[in-house]
Amino acid sequence: MMLEKTGENIWIYNGPKVQFYGVPFPTRMTVILLNNKKLWIHSPEKMNPQLKLEIDQLGEVGYLVSPNKLHHLFVEEWIAAYPQAKNYATKGLIKKRSDIKFDKALSDIAENDWKGEIEQLIFKGSLVMEEAVFFYKASKTIILTDLIENFTAETLTGWQRRLAKFAGILAPNGKAPIDYRASFFMGKQQARESLAVMQSWDVENVIMSHGECVFGEGKAFLERAFSWV
Ligand SMILES: [Fe+2]
Repeated sequence: MMLEKTGENIWIYNGPKVQFYGVPFPTRMTVILLNNKKLWIHSPEKMNPQLKLEIDQLGEVGYLVSPNKLHHLFVEEWIAAYPQAKNYATKGLIKKRSDIKFDKALSDIAENDWKGEIEQLIFKGSLVMEEAVFFYKASKTIILTDLIENFTAETLTGWQRRLAKFAGILAPNGKAPIDYRASFFMGKQQARESLAVMQSWDVENVIMSHGECVFGEGKAFLERAFSWV
């Protein structure tokens, strides 16, 4: 199985590693089966026949979610495979990829398509990138993209480990990478307001796009990871 179940009606898929500054970057997609029997796909990964088969066995792909302007590489493959799916992205990505037909910009208000099941907010304050953050209530799971990266030391060589530690993204002390954090220098207050909303959620588990997920005591992990805010 490529999809890994992490709770009732929620799965992750660990996609192929991509090279970034010579460091192997693990990537991850998250899938939720909503009450309407449609699948909600966060940060779609590169498609392959086995993955598609497993997805199709779970249900109908209803919603594609591109959570920030860096996570768009494979969404076109998914639009081609599932043209009926509604395609959501952040405003920044819609502007950046005007060649892709997105249906709707994500906002601070949960979309009607998943209202009541998944909470959402736009994490604000960065000069370079806004990220849509989601909270799947049924399994108390927050889904982050680049706001926390949490690399496993064992998967890295010596210098890569030192680089990851310097960037602040070495597990279990992962957080937003140093350059992303630096981009909040004018917007700490906005970031604090976004964080306050996240803190109001009953978070137990943390899924992120890059690195080790955290299952259990997610709230304490979030506090540590966002202490820079
Ligand atoms: Fe990323």
